[in-house]
Amino acid sequence: MTLQLAQEFDLIDPLAKKRAEFLLPRDTIYLDGNSLGPLPKVAKTRVEEVVGKQWGEDLIASWNKNNWISLPATVGDKIAPLIGAAQGQVVCCDSISINLFKLLAAALNLQSTRKIVLSQTDNFPTDLYAAQGLSSLLGETQCQLKLVDVKSIVESLDESIAVLLLTHVNFRGGEKHDMALITKLAHAKGILVIWDLAHSAGAMPLQLDAAKVDFAVGCGYKYFNGGPGAPAFIYVAARHQSKVKQPLAGWMGDQSPFDFNSQYKAAPGINKFLSGTPNIISMAALDAALDVFCDVDLEQLWQKSMKLSELFRQTVSQHNGLDALLLISPNDPEQRGSQLAYSHPDAFAISQALIDHKVIVDFRAPNILRFGFTPLYTRFIDVSRAAQILEEIFTKKIYQHKQYQAKQQVT
Ligand SMILES: Cc1ncc(COP(=O)(O)O)c(C=O)c1O
Repeated sequence: MTLQLAQEFDLIDPLAKKRAEFLLPRDTIYLDGNSLGPLPKVAKTRVEEVVGKQWGEDLIASWNKNNWISLPATVGDKIAPLIGAAQGQVVCCDSISINLFKLLAAALNLQSTRKIVLSQTDNFPTDLYAAQGLSSLLGETQCQLKLVDVKSIVESLDESIAVLLLTHVNFRGGEKHDMALITKLAHAKGILVIWDLAHSAGAMPLQLDAAKVDFAVGCGYKYFNGGPGAPAFIYVAARHQSKVKQPLAGWMGDQSPFDFNSQYKAAPGINKFLSGTPNIISMAALDAALDVFCDVDLEQLWQKSMKLSELFRQTVSQHNGLDALLLISPNDPEQRGSQLAYSHPDAFAISQALIDHKVIVDFRAPNILRFGFTPLYTRFIDVSRAAQILEEIFTKKIYQHKQYQAKQQVT
């Protein structure tokens, strides 16, 4: 793609103005918002206010005065329209890992005789670990994890399966499942479905209610830009809320926490999925970051995401010098999430050379190079420039330099 064409695309981009709402380092092309979103200006201001004014001056009165106590529900209700959910079905709390544990136990509990959790072999590890942890706690007679290859998911949906646990967009290759279709096929066999939306919430329009999804979890720190370790969210369809039980009972999920009763009585509705005290500073940052979406049309966002990644994919595929990079994401942008993944034996060194040249991407073991295309702040000229830098790193074999080989704790 020529730089001129990229500039033309930027000129007609309806989302172009959103970039000014983020604090981004100068001269850096950030293609890693699928791992950690950048800092929205409103989030910075809010954290300063929460720390300086609310915590610093209002102190404990803030639980009422500054509505800290209702923050999990407030943030949940802000996330709901972004995932196609009616109010009262989403709450913000804990991490995806913890929320998956709660949901797996809750879903299994609804299935009186079935005990098998079906998932995909290459699902994100924490999803599998949550099921393995529950299985080792309850024993295999109560919870048994069955893993199948992505191609065998549909044929494995039978009456022995209690719960189907899938990630909507695969973290490595970005392959996207047809959420509505798989949920429907699972329901036809009496299976409850949990979707992990870590790589889809905030990246594309989602229709959880319309697809009759049972349960879902999602992330605050990726496409929602809530900051490192931002709390996650949990979705429980209204039709399940009165019957469902979750195992991590805690006072914030009790119906009257400030009565300090000895006997737990689950709160009605989605609040029963809360356990302990919310992380107010982190949750407030996420709450503010979500306001960036208030004038964003998610369909428009998704169209730009596809256009950005397509331009990158085409540029890379047209350059002979980049033949050794093997695209593992689907060619069709409708079939993938907001990312492109390439395999290469030196993927790690290439990622380090790119980062050194101020193109921030990430590496996933053993040999995957990931590029995230987040439309709120990524310009077409960024994509054009990133492809150009990648070509240079390849043609001049820059990535083979010794300094790009050393791995740190986080890769
Ligand atoms: C698909 C998926 N699920 C879960 C997680 C991790 O969730 P958490 O750290 O909130 O437990 C990630 C992290 O990247 C992920 O990609």
